[in-house]
Amino acid sequence: MGVIDICNISSSCLTNYSIIEGHSNKVDRNRRRIIAMTSSVNVERMDETKRRLSGDSFIRPHLRKLSPYQPILPFEVLSTRLGRKPEDIVKLDANENPYGPPPEVLEALGSMKFPYIYPDPESRRLRAALAVDSGLESDYILAGCGADELIDLIMRCVLDPGDKILDCPPTFTMYEFDAAVNGAQVIKVPRNPDFSLDVESISRAVEKEKPKCIFLTSPNNPDGSIINDEDLLKILDLPVLVVLDEAYIEFSENESRMKWVKKYDNMIVLRTFSKRAGLAGLRVGYGAFPLSIIEYLWRAKQPYNVSVAAEIAACAALENPTYLKNVKNALVQERERLYKLLTEVPFLKPFPSHSNFILCEVIGGRDAKKLKEDLAKMGVMIRHYNNKELKGFVRVSVGKPEQTDTLMDCFGRLS
Ligand SMILES: Cc1ncc(COP(=O)(O)O)c(C=O)c1O
Repeated sequence: MGVIDICNISSSCLTNYSIIEGHSNKVDRNRRRIIAMTSSVNVERMDETKRRLSGDSFIRPHLRKLSPYQPILPFEVLSTRLGRKPEDIVKLDANENPYGPPPEVLEALGSMKFPYIYPDPESRRLRAALAVDSGLESDYILAGCGADELIDLIMRCVLDPGDKILDCPPTFTMYEFDAAVNGAQVIKVPRNPDFSLDVESISRAVEKEKPKCIFLTSPNNPDGSIINDEDLLKILDLPVLVVLDEAYIEFSENESRMKWVKKYDNMIVLRTFSKRAGLAGLRVGYGAFPLSIIEYLWRAKQPYNVSVAAEIAACAALENPTYLKNVKNALVQERERLYKLLTEVPFLKPFPSHSNFILCEVIGGRDAKKLKEDLAKMGVMIRHYNNKELKGFVRVSVGKPEQTDTLMDCFGRLS
């Protein structure tokens, strides 16, 4: 076994070498000395290894295989690409709330006093307001930079590399993406053809694969179906952490199940301001957690995860529940009108939805991707699916009545 003296090395990036910090009596005044022990490797070979190190050699192996998440194009980029002003684009591809937040939000942001001070790491004002809004004490609530951050935070707290999560596609793809980032395996139990959960197969998969957690979405993105109490209770009875994502719950006739976390120690409920309050751009989400879990999320989260602007905006939005309710009613009413109109389009088969979007199968030999592209050329953006679970489907977000009219006009021109 050889011993190499290495001086002035600031980081221990020499993989395959076991490195021991030099004893203080061996360290020159301004030089850091490391003694590395290795088997018959000479200095020349080590220099070559150093030279060959490229940036990606520092990246964790499982991340080198990760396919990048495909985010939507920023509005300005889209506008340039389509050669249309942003206000002339009918954006129905990301389930955003076209009404935006209540006027109080812009007023509050305009009079923001302390943008130069770090935000409250505990988002106390927002959590107090959420306690009133949800009827669940603030001790059970943690806010985040969107529900997206909380999905990742939960995984970072729960999963060791190699652990498994259970996913029920088709569903929100961030669960699978975050699992890959966190080095977890994804066990998939596809939904039934009507998009309900296959509870029997879920039970069997939990027993056999022993996943640490299961991600459930109600209403589910992309089809808008909801999970009934009977199915949810059966899944809560399994030895698995159940993360129930209620990003779209306001658009259903169901109440949020946030309060259930007081009864079920294996349940987390996630919600967001992106849809209900038109604040997708400001990034505020929140979750309800059992007390036995939340304390670890507090320890692991980034201290300033909710910005001053995000907290101010979310609090201001909650101050106008009438606006939030009116916007929700307008979107639910428009969803029903849109659904009826979509049933009249000869090449679409829409699915009933409890959310602010409608999934449609593209039928009659039409190509779903081409349909999406043809609409984009006319300035109307919708989402297209072409994966194992959803081939030849599109999803249309519910917009304002005039946006529905434009969409239907475009479908008419493509008929
Ligand atoms: C099911 C679901 N959960 C969570 C999110 C993300 O919410 P947020 O904007 O709060 O990160 C989305 C966004 O589209 C979603 O569809």
